[in-house]
Amino acid sequence: MEQTRLLDKTPLSFTYDLLRSKTDQEIVTNFSLVMAGSVLLIVVWNLVWGPVPYGKAAMVSMRGKDNSKGLSWKFWEYSISSRFAWGIGHLPTIIVPWVVILCTPTPYLYNVTNLAGLTIFYVHYLNRTVIYPSKISHHATPYPAWSIVGPLIITTGSTFVQTHHLANVQKPLDVSFLTFVGIGVTILGGWLNTRHDWILTGLRARGKGYQIPEGSLFEYVSCPNFFGECLKWWGLALVTGGGSPQVMIAIVSTVFLGFRARFTHKWYHAKFGTKYPRERKVIIPFVY
Ligand SMILES: NC(=O)c1ccc[n+]([C@@H]2O[C@H](COP(=O)([O-])OP(=O)(O)OC[C@H]3O[C@@H](n4cnc5c(N)ncnc54)[C@H](OP(=O)(O)O)[C@@H]3O)[C@@H](O)[C@H]2O)c1
Repeated sequence: MEQTRLLDKTPLSFTYDLLRSKTDQEIVTNFSLVMAGSVLLIVVWNLVWGPVPYGKAAMVSMRGKDNSKGLSWKFWEYSISSRFAWGIGHLPTIIVPWVVILCTPTPYLYNVTNLAGLTIFYVHYLNRTVIYPSKISHHATPYPAWSIVGPLIITTGSTFVQTHHLANVQKPLDVSFLTFVGIGVTILGGWLNTRHDWILTGLRARGKGYQIPEGSLFEYVSCPNFFGECLKWWGLALVTGGGSPQVMIAIVSTVFLGFRARFTHKWYHAKFGTKYPRERKVIIPFVY
């Protein structure tokens, strides 16, 4: 494997020290290890403390008891709107790729599979940073202001490594049958994710609190938006030939959203009781 240091003499050269790496490949490997560690953290967090406390889970205390006053953010109670939190928290995802592209050599950027991977990544986050927040209702559960610090750090690091990997590290791949399968899976996932996100934000906009979602894949699962998101990331992993940062983002998302879907499914049953359709699965139609 070629041992390059393409970030030397660029404004991003500090990242070698930050990620304790001597080469570009090592940056990618070390960050992928950090992501592997975060999978463990997600599992432990969910099993020990319960769901990450935002949205529906902000009404459930860290020990899983119902808390109708919501979480008490004791050390900093200042809250911000959900749409602002989603937009600002993801802002690095649409800025950092341009920093990498404009400031580093990018020898592999114009290879078809790398460019396709980067385009999928960018389009996903353009939606998450600009379009999705604009659809979030003013009635949505607010976020404690401090909670956007985590997403800002995570999205900056993750976006840097994804872009650096596809522009500077991953050698050109031949376009194969799997590339087209990956693109197809990504498009399907993106469509499912967006369609069902919009159904939910539309329900919230009515200002009547949480309701039982209906239509499309909601007839089969409680969280089709999460199912679509997972498909999208696995499609990206296929397009990039199983690059480690892309596989890791697919694993992290699947584990996080899998736990989130399980929580949401149980929460619907607890809130709506017998009114909630019993045949609905959690996240994968007909399977789970
Ligand atoms: N890749 C990853 O690791 C990852 C992690 C997290 C999220 N995401 C993605 O980000 C998007 C949003 O995630 P999320 O966890 O916020 O999704 P969510 O819990 O489904 O909420 C989406 C929006 O719809 C509202 N809503 C949800 N269920 C509702 C119902 N039954 N009735 C009325 N309104 C309802 C929520 O309001 P409230 O905010 O008030 O609940 C929120 O504004 C999804 O597409 C998800 O796939 C990805």
